[in-house]
Amino acid sequence: MELELSLEFVRVVEEAAIEAARTMGEGDAKKSDHVAVEAMRRALERVPIDGTVVIGEGERDEAPMLYIGEKVGNKNSSVSIPQIDIAVDPLEGTNLCATGAPNSITVLAASDKGGLLNAPDCYMEKIIVGPSCKGAVDLEAPVKENLKAIARRLNRDVEDLVVIVLDRTRHEKLIEEIRAAGARIRLIGDGDLSAGISAAVVGTGVHAVMGIGGAPEGVLTAAAMRCLNGEITARLVLDTPELVERAKGMGISDPRKIYSTNELATGKNIIFAATGVTDGNLLRGVRFFGEGVRTQSLVMTLSSAKVRFVDTVHLEKSPTVKVQFQ
Ligand code: FBP
Repeated sequence: MELELSLEFVRVVEEAAIEAARTMGEGDAKKSDHVAVEAMRRALERVPIDGTVVIGEGERDEAPMLYIGEKVGNKNSSVSIPQIDIAVDPLEGTNLCATGAPNSITVLAASDKGGLLNAPDCYMEKIIVGPSCKGAVDLEAPVKENLKAIARRLNRDVEDLVVIVLDRTRHEKLIEEIRAAGARIRLIGDGDLSAGISAAVVGTGVHAVMGIGGAPEGVLTAAAMRCLNGEITARLVLDTPELVERAKGMGISDPRKIYSTNELATGKNIIFAATGVTDGNLLRGVRFFGEGVRTQSLVMTLSSAKVRFVDTVHLEKSPTVKVQFQ
């Protein structure tokens, strides 16, 4: 499944990124998200899959498109089509795109049926680290101990670490503890999913992501970590009886369970695709030049163990547009 579908999914995230990027800086996060959702939904209609959205824009009654449980894909294909689960974040960092800030991306992950945790749309406590730090962190350990463990694995001092944290008041204590331990912090306005991917790629200057962000982003991060050999350890924040009930209905009986990467994304086959909307740590944003458009994407496949950076020049609007080297 992985090889044939990975390019199809690149096309899906590319099309969502191009539409979102046209709204960059308009200051209308809802509009940016809406155009990305529509473009992604349209592009998915052409992919020969029998797909079910398991992580999407919300429940059926609150999202008109790409809602949880929605069927997607083109089932009219003459060849046999695979049944797969799809997790999407059509625009990760809606505010980032709306303000032209870095690291806004479009994201899709796919797996064989049941291969991605069907999580409620709530918050999730997370620690995300790269391959060298696998098994070194513990969600219940003091922040200082986790930072020491990460530093040891990376052969450096805690003072040399950079930890990304979402800039939220709920993180005041966490930020204090990271500062007290001596590590450096990069506070971000949004986008802990793209931050998590950066933490698993050597050379980005990001060593860990800590704190509470969205659970859907957590499951998507897990799919990326499976492909990058990184690690996410996480726990759903089920802090109201309604959320506990909702999680129960989705098969989650222990509300305090700590999930490993493999439990969040269990699939044997996983495809993860993302395209940069605005320029970021790992991916360049969409560039418009005359009649052409250039996008940069990341597409990873688990069982065939490939991480590809795809630079695409879209020339479809004009037969005279020229391709530049870079
Ligand atoms: P959107 O793209 O949906 O706006 O989400 C951005 C984001 O920053 C995520 O990266 C993060 O997981 C989540 O929001 C945090 O939620 P909140 O903004 O409520 O703290």
